[in-house]
Amino acid sequence: MTSRGGLSKWRTVVSRKLYVTIALAMLCGCAKVGTDAGPTATAELQPRSGSNVHGTVRFSQAGERVRITGELTGGTPGMKGFHIHEKGDCSAPDAMSAAGHYNPAKTKHGAPGAGHAGDLGNVTFDAAGNAHIDKTVSGIAVSREPARGIVGRAVIVHLQEDDLKTDPTGNAGGRAACGVIREN
Ligand code: CU
Ligand code: ZN
Repeated sequence: MTSRGGLSKWRTVVSRKLYVTIALAMLCGCAKVGTDAGPTATAELQPRSGSNVHGTVRFSQAGERVRITGELTGGTPGMKGFHIHEKGDCSAPDAMSAAGHYNPAKTKHGAPGAGHAGDLGNVTFDAAGNAHIDKTVSGIAVSREPARGIVGRAVIVHLQEDDLKTDPTGNAGGRAACGVIREN
C-alpha cells in the first residue's frame, strides 16, 4: 500500500512538472512570434572624441517599422543627438569617418520620420550618465536595401543635443560614440 501510494504521488508530481514545462514552452513560443518576427542587428558603441560614452544599441524589424533599444553609459547628463550615419566606419578618433547622416532620399535634417532616414532624434542621459533607449521609427529597415537599409552603417551618439531642425547636422556637435550596425 505504502509503495503504491508513493508511486502514484511521484507520478502526479512528474506529470505536474511536465504540464508546467509544456505550458512554459508554449508561452515562450508565442512571445517569440509576437516580438521577434523580423531580422535583427546590433551596434556596439565605442567612445570617440575623448568621451567615455559606450554601450549597445539593438534594431529589430517590426512589420514596416524598426524598434530600437539599448543602454549607454559614460555620458554627461541631458539630451544628445542620436543618428544613423552613412558609412559603417568608426575608425577616426572623432568618428568623422562615418560621414554624414544616412540620407538616401536626399531630404533635409529633421525630427525622426520628418528628416533624414538616419535622424533618430535624441537620447537622454540621466545624472549618473546612463541612457536607456526604446523607440520605434519608420523609414528604415534592418537590411542592406539601398533605399532604407541600415545594416553596415554606423550609429553615432553626439556630444550635444540635436535641435531637430538645423540642416544637415541638427547642431549636435562632435561625435561621442560610434558603432557599426551588424546583422545578428
Ligand atoms: Cu549624427
Ligand atoms: Zn540628419
